[in-house]
Amino acid sequence: MSISVKNNVFTLQTRNSTYQMKADERRILLHTYYGAKTDETDHSYLIQMADHGFSGNIDGTEDERVYSLDYLPQEFPALGSGDHRIHCLAADLGSGVCDCLLLFDSYKVYDGKYSIPGLPAMFAGEGAQTLEILLKDCREEFYVRLLYGVFEDVDIITRSVVIENRMEGPAVLKKVSSACVDLMENGLELVHFYGRHGCERQMEKSPLPHGIMELRSTRGASSHQHNPFVILAGEHTTEESGICYGAALLYSGGFSVQAEVDQMDQTRLILGIDAQDFSWELGPGECFYSPEVCMCMSGGGYEGLSHRLHRGFQDHLIRSAWKDKRRPIVANNWEATHFDFDGKGILEIAREAAGLGVDMFVLDDGWFGERDSDLSGLGDWYANEEKLGCTLSELSEEVHEMGLMFGLWFEPEMISEDSDLYREHPDWALAIPGRAPIRGRSQLVLDMSRGDVIDHLHRCISGILDTVRIEYIKWDMNRSLAAAYSRMLPAERQGEVRHRAVLGVYELLERILKDHPGLLLEGCCGGGGRYDAGMLYYCPQIWCSDNTDAIERLRIQYGTSFAYPMSTISAHVSACPNEMNFRTTPFKTRGVCAMQGVFGYELDLRRMSQEEKEAAKTQIAYFREHYRLFQFGTYHRLVSPYEDKSYTAWGSVAEDQKEAVVAVVYTDLHANPRAEHLKLRGLVGEWSYRLCRDGEELGTFTGAALMNGGILLPVPKENYDSCQYYLKAE
Ligand code: DGJ
Repeated sequence: MSISVKNNVFTLQTRNSTYQMKADERRILLHTYYGAKTDETDHSYLIQMADHGFSGNIDGTEDERVYSLDYLPQEFPALGSGDHRIHCLAADLGSGVCDCLLLFDSYKVYDGKYSIPGLPAMFAGEGAQTLEILLKDCREEFYVRLLYGVFEDVDIITRSVVIENRMEGPAVLKKVSSACVDLMENGLELVHFYGRHGCERQMEKSPLPHGIMELRSTRGASSHQHNPFVILAGEHTTEESGICYGAALLYSGGFSVQAEVDQMDQTRLILGIDAQDFSWELGPGECFYSPEVCMCMSGGGYEGLSHRLHRGFQDHLIRSAWKDKRRPIVANNWEATHFDFDGKGILEIAREAAGLGVDMFVLDDGWFGERDSDLSGLGDWYANEEKLGCTLSELSEEVHEMGLMFGLWFEPEMISEDSDLYREHPDWALAIPGRAPIRGRSQLVLDMSRGDVIDHLHRCISGILDTVRIEYIKWDMNRSLAAAYSRMLPAERQGEVRHRAVLGVYELLERILKDHPGLLLEGCCGGGGRYDAGMLYYCPQIWCSDNTDAIERLRIQYGTSFAYPMSTISAHVSACPNEMNFRTTPFKTRGVCAMQGVFGYELDLRRMSQEEKEAAKTQIAYFREHYRLFQFGTYHRLVSPYEDKSYTAWGSVAEDQKEAVVAVVYTDLHANPRAEHLKLRGLVGEWSYRLCRDGEELGTFTGAALMNGGILLPVPKENYDSCQYYLKAE
């Protein structure tokens, strides 16, 4: 049993971690422990009870003055309870002031994992248990149901919250976060992944100072700027050792991660929906469901954390029919043509792709409506047959006849003012009446909180999927939400629009997948602006970045790999000089980097030299042969792109440790270079491995030699040179 309850002490056990809370004599739900595995000992003995001054006392505790929610570690701190730190809940229960005091009411434990209506959630068969703890306001019929899912084998504990209004009048929710982690320690670092368009998920480690640090997106998408995944780590935690806690929010809209080191040197971490533009009127009898947080703990450094999260997301989050399959190697026409194409040119590119051994051709933006630039056409989801020179069906059939699958780009959540859809339904765009809208990429955002908009999009996309042979959709989203006003809601409820819009997106995705369960969805948001665990519930892979430069991708893909499995990272070989940063890299290196995930091509295949075509055929054959390692192997970040070294390296080892692939990309050149030894990980020390580099046999070495002595790397022959190793146990 992974959940035990004794005298109102709730202990959640995973294979390597323990999480504990306790409903004390005053019915406050305290957080007593989260860390390396211990036992059912009541860890509340760790809490120091003292009068710290200027810390208020809840009713009935004022005589002692040592009992204050201002410093006690808690599971779900609420505003108004005398806790002056960051909080999970701000709710006005009718007084006009947010003043909840949540007391323990009851609990239940059951086998299996809870789900959340309308929201993505991790799932399990029998291999998980759920704990529900019901808290109630000290006076009102206002309840908070805390949900905990325990996935013992991957050291994951999920959390979510249901707010239940059983009062006679409405409550107004001004902040609902999904989880709080109160650790009775400080000196921790927050590892987070910031960025911008074309430069996503750059890793940063920030020591937490006293006070509050916040990472947030107010953009209606999880965003390029911050990722809803963070790690709290000890100061000395490394890739291979030390304690760290990962927390991922399964949410694709605006979010907030707050970390506070308080006056008593304790650390609090809170994750949830961004509260800035949020408010929610919860009527009598209604419930509000928060998105889920996935928490994971590792005592074996970042690598241990990533391995657990990769396994957890692969087995318990990604649902697609494609989840365990080799993903199609695609050729996408975006960087080849942008909007400037016709059906004939598209078929020429597809024919080249088929000749190289590619699996799927993807027709990107520009195939529909009057869309010859980004100024028009979004919303008009019918093929521009004049531009294509045929129907979409005919195009797809021709592509299929070449032996390729066919994929299509959509950006369902958007609308161009110059479109038939806008001319017919101007009120479907989010905009404040009487004020000029904020435009992004010259487009507006559809009001995804409206049922009629979702029905319409469902009809359009299903209509195409029902009549045209399409195996894959690239689901794009190319601007941030701003001034998001829905005509469906009164002024005082506009704070609900952004979350309702996210629920609308999820509903649409769910409906499309229900009708077309075999469809492969690739998430995209101007590259990786919506790369989050919420999206992975619908899309087993996500376009990692619009930046396809192999060298910049090293950091982008490195940062992405901390939480998200390699099978989710979509990466393509593109042309040089790169269209975003103008860098030229060897064709080989572009392939080596793009194989660090879901592999494909994104360049005009008609313009490739014969030599490049031969190289592409070799890359495709290599990826096909070793796809299980690239997509599903145990991933090791061997040399970080942030390290002061002239190369970056990574590897993937088979679950049975009998095979591995390793890649090295040189980022710097030196005259008279010294010897570089790359130490591998994840092999069996006593076994002997046959080692090949770029197809050349180098001999047989023991796992111990390769892990402790390493591989002697070759001297690079050109700027951004690279090599690939393959190892097989004899
Ligand atoms: C942004 C995406 O990230 C690109 O790959 C491409 O699909 C463009 N949008 C098309 O407008």
